[in-house]
Amino acid sequence: MCSTILRAVALGSLIALVRAATYLPDSSCATCAGSNSLPVPFNLSASQTDILDEGTSNSFWISSFLLGSDGHKYFVISHALDGSPASYRASILDVTNPSIRVQFSTADTANTSLYSDTGVFSFITSNFTFGATNHADGLSKMRTWSNYNSVQFDLTFETSSPVLLNGGTGSFEVTGGVGYEWSMPAGKTTGSLTIDGTTITVDTAQSQTWYDRQWGNIPQSWYWFEVHIEPMTDYPTGAVLSVWNWVDDISGDKNFATVREAPGIQRVVPVKNFSRNLNSVWTSTHTGHKYVQDFELLLEDGTSLSISSILEDQELWNESESGFEGYMTVTGSYKGIPGVRGFAVSEQLPNAYSAFS
Ligand SMILES: *[C@@H]1O[C@H](CO)[C@@H](O)[C@H](O)[C@H]1NC(C)=O
Ligand SMILES: *[C@@H]1O[C@H](CO)[C@@H](O)[C@H](O)[C@H]1NC(C)=O
Ligand SMILES: *[C@@H]1O[C@H](CO)[C@@H](O)[C@H](O)[C@H]1NC(C)=O
Ligand SMILES: *[C@@H]1O[C@H](CO)[C@@H](O)[C@H](O)[C@H]1NC(C)=O
Ligand SMILES: *[C@@H]1O[C@H](CO)[C@@H](O)[C@H](O)[C@H]1NC(C)=O
Repeated sequence: MCSTILRAVALGSLIALVRAATYLPDSSCATCAGSNSLPVPFNLSASQTDILDEGTSNSFWISSFLLGSDGHKYFVISHALDGSPASYRASILDVTNPSIRVQFSTADTANTSLYSDTGVFSFITSNFTFGATNHADGLSKMRTWSNYNSVQFDLTFETSSPVLLNGGTGSFEVTGGVGYEWSMPAGKTTGSLTIDGTTITVDTAQSQTWYDRQWGNIPQSWYWFEVHIEPMTDYPTGAVLSVWNWVDDISGDKNFATVREAPGIQRVVPVKNFSRNLNSVWTSTHTGHKYVQDFELLLEDGTSLSISSILEDQELWNESESGFEGYMTVTGSYKGIPGVRGFAVSEQLPNAYSAFS
């Protein structure tokens, strides 16, 4: 592959798609996550602090899609992962000018707990925080702040968007145990970013945050996508998808999409064909890991999506760790309706390229 910063492939059309995307928050109910009327095998609020079996995962993750006061679109990742000590990672990509990107991945903290003394999610280090804003309510509103190297942001989001329960109930068997995941796809977001010393304010009316809460067992390796399909005549709120393709020698490999196509309506759809474009593989100049830039997804309901990265280097890395959290454009058809567009995140583990080969 060429080593240009931007992707050479169909760059003109990618930029046109990026300009078209509008990041509308979903605030159809103020306490949606808390008042979800679908049955769930756990308490969503308590799931923020559920006590876990030793050795299982405990993750708090967001992707924010922002319109800034400078007219640029931005893509922010923030992630806190339990451990001894806990680790945290974050990145900012200027979607309008993708030559601007900053990231870090670290476990540089004296704190071993992600929770406050009062028992809410509240991870605090001297250069990064992620947690609930209100110690009486650990679910409705969260803030993540970073002043780590050049990754500088301060974002507050509400869980104002009806949740997507992965696998239909938010729990599934994986690697011989139970894994849990719920996603809040498009919460109302306020705050700011600082790039090269300039502070950019978030336009709340055209910005949104996806919050992903995952705990318990996780697969050995995966490609995961968060997909946002823009509104269509038949689906005026568009659709959001959480798509898993995982490798699991114990419970069996899985490949499925959980789809929320109207507030509260969930569908679980098998993936019929997951295809990586092996001509689009980027080999990291930082870590040597291989990350795929272009995918085709065909679902059993006829949905067919082309997912394409806008920048090769969307790796979060340090000397010993690597992962890919990439902003992607989406084109294709939704349940047979042609001409749909959207945007996505592709999450890839460093071992995914070889695990799926
Ligand atoms: C769910 O958990 C929250 C926070 O721990 C608690 O306040 C609430 O009473 C729980 N709801 C139910 C129905 O148990
Ligand atoms: C690299 O980042 C991971 C978290 O993603 C952390 O656990 C690890 O300690 C970091 N290593 C170094 C050398 O900073
Ligand atoms: C560790 O977290 C606690 C509360 O969660 C906070 O008060 C304290 O300042 C944090 N320590 C450091 C070194 O950041
Ligand atoms: C953490 O913040 C302090 C105080 O602003 C700063 O001096 C230090 O360089 C920061 N560390 C990192 C790794 O960014
Ligand atoms: C899966 O999709 C790819 C890309 O569109 C195509 O080349 C391949 O033939 C498909 N495989 C199957 C089994 O349909």
